[in-house]
Amino acid sequence: MNANDRYRKLIEDVKYQKKSLNLPEINNALWSKVAPGYRFDPFRKSDAVLDALKDHITKNDTVLEIGGGAGRTALPLALHCKSVTNIEPSLGMCSEFIELANSSKITNVNVVQSTWEDAVFPTCDVAVIVDVTYFISEIGSLLKKMERAAKRRVIVATWNPPPPNRNAALFELVYEEGFKSLPSYLEILDVLLEVGIQPSVLMPDEFFQWPEKILTTREMAVSFALDAVGAPSTERMKDRIIQNLKALFSFEDGIFHPLWRPVAPAVLLTWTTEYPE
Ligand SMILES: C[S@@+](CC[C@H](N)C(=O)[O-])C[C@H]1O[C@@H](n2cnc3c(N)ncnc32)[C@H](O)[C@@H]1O
Repeated sequence: MNANDRYRKLIEDVKYQKKSLNLPEINNALWSKVAPGYRFDPFRKSDAVLDALKDHITKNDTVLEIGGGAGRTALPLALHCKSVTNIEPSLGMCSEFIELANSSKITNVNVVQSTWEDAVFPTCDVAVIVDVTYFISEIGSLLKKMERAAKRRVIVATWNPPPPNRNAALFELVYEEGFKSLPSYLEILDVLLEVGIQPSVLMPDEFFQWPEKILTTREMAVSFALDAVGAPSTERMKDRIIQNLKALFSFEDGIFHPLWRPVAPAVLLTWTTEYPE
């Protein structure tokens, strides 16, 4: 098995596990449903991941972002470069992207509603992908396609572990079986090294966080935990959480704080596509 086959297998194993437990699959409809939550202020204060991206992108650069969602990264980047094209298959994400760009008066962006597989990538200076790679089975083909489109550089941004893997301990408690992990940056590295690409591995000083509900009651905490692993709100499932409530949450100043999730630092893999003749 080569690195790409191993990568694909990890993703297939996760899909198989979800199917066997009757959990919802991740598809366009799901991305559209959660799209409003991916709408972030393009003028917000920059963070270390955005700073690291900007460090590799100049004001004259055209940027291609794959799976750019509602523009969480694409829109702030557009304020910093010549233009950004977002290749994004989910209609809900595309609509949020367009509305947010319009209401923010950011005009140097466009979105193509397509999967990366179906899209013809326009030539760009820098091709970027943020928080998507752990959903892509054919990672080698995607990275090759980005590499061909980018005149100067490819940048892959992710977290270690990828956000869905942070619920592993809770998953095992709820479903009483081993958690199948999505691939991390280490598996992407294997794929790249196998085709002779030696990227820089950057670790900007940023940890995964996402705006979340403040959990002020035990019922909210239980429902938050069940949602995190897609579990139904049955008495049996609720009981499992309640019996482990003290291990799963700390309770400070009237607020429940989840304890099962490891911190996930940001990781960027980047390489130049300007090879000497
Ligand atoms: C976790 S969201 C990240 C969105 C955005 N990059 C961000 O960081 O806010 C994953 C995104 O990948 C997109 N995606 C999933 N499969 C894709 C594919 N085959 N081609 C392009 N994008 C895809 C989804 O529609 C979704 O918008």
